[in-house]
Amino acid sequence: MKVLVLGGAGYIGSHMCKMLASQNDTVIVFDNLSTGHAEAVKWGPLIVGDVLNKNDLVSLFSEHGPFDLVIHFCAKSLVGESVQHPATYYRNNVMGTLNVLETMIDTGHDKLVFSSTAAVFGVPKVNLIDESQPRLPINPYGQSKKMVEDMLQDFHKAYGLKSVCLRYFNACGADPEAEIGERHEPETHLIPNILKSILMGAEQQMKVFGKDYPTMDGTCIRDYIHINDLAKAHILAGDYLSNHDGAYAFNLGNGNGFSVLEVIAAAEQVVGNTIAYKIEEPRAGDPAVLVANANLAEIELGWKPHYNDIQTIIATAWQWHQNETF
Ligand code: UFG
Repeated sequence: MKVLVLGGAGYIGSHMCKMLASQNDTVIVFDNLSTGHAEAVKWGPLIVGDVLNKNDLVSLFSEHGPFDLVIHFCAKSLVGESVQHPATYYRNNVMGTLNVLETMIDTGHDKLVFSSTAAVFGVPKVNLIDESQPRLPINPYGQSKKMVEDMLQDFHKAYGLKSVCLRYFNACGADPEAEIGERHEPETHLIPNILKSILMGAEQQMKVFGKDYPTMDGTCIRDYIHINDLAKAHILAGDYLSNHDGAYAFNLGNGNGFSVLEVIAAAEQVVGNTIAYKIEEPRAGDPAVLVANANLAEIELGWKPHYNDIQTIIATAWQWHQNETF
């Protein structure tokens, strides 16, 4: 298969490319390098361009297509930033994706796997979130992804574009061979921040955002899912579109929740050291608990996470952070 990976220089996109190449697919990466890293593109050519520039997309599809599958990761993805800069989020995530969809339709491409998020659900009313839960996002990031999910329904009806939206819970961990990993500037995610606080000592103290959430230890609970399990779901979703004609959405998580303090304790076991932290004010827009029910992905896609132990997941990230190559 020839697969176009939009956003293939980023954290999830680069792991995706490595997995595709490992099963002998041909990979073409398109990325504007705003948050991605050229050094993370190792399994196919990197075409630098922007989904906001329709001409870039037209040249991409005419010079490098046709593609058997398009996987679209290009997005702004920080909840807090989206509250401060909603215009950036709607422009990049909604207008950028509209350009991708139009280019696909104009060039006869009909299979898309799209990065969505648990943030489409807002504050959940149940402990385990399945696909039947109402999508009521509480920030512009989640709203922008919900808008694309809705667009994909309409585009299937009108133009026959087949798609799978994959709603990630908390993506984490790194390539077990530590060739690539997670690197954001600035880093806002929990596991890299814990590990960096160990590597950087007093220079970067670990902060825990909030201690009064209605959870057993007062800190937020999340469902941490390994990056390679997420990548695998895209491969299965691509296969699914070969024999299913529709616009689908699946939640992807382990179904186990860990509090911030539990993740810190697990990281202490992995690194063999205690981790100092201080309690800070809660972060705007953080729901107390977000845990997936991913049964539908198992039934429909045959997807089952391989990494279901939090310490093993953290260990892959730790191996990467100790020797970051970009
Ligand atoms: N946290 C800390 N200290 C840190 C970083 C995070 O205490 O230094 C806490 C957060 O407050 C939160 C938890 O750790 O309670 C996880 O935070 P992350 O930033 O790692 O992840 P989020 O749950 O905020 O966000 C992730 C994705 C988003 C997605 C969201 C779904 O990164 O793209 O899940 O709610 F929208």
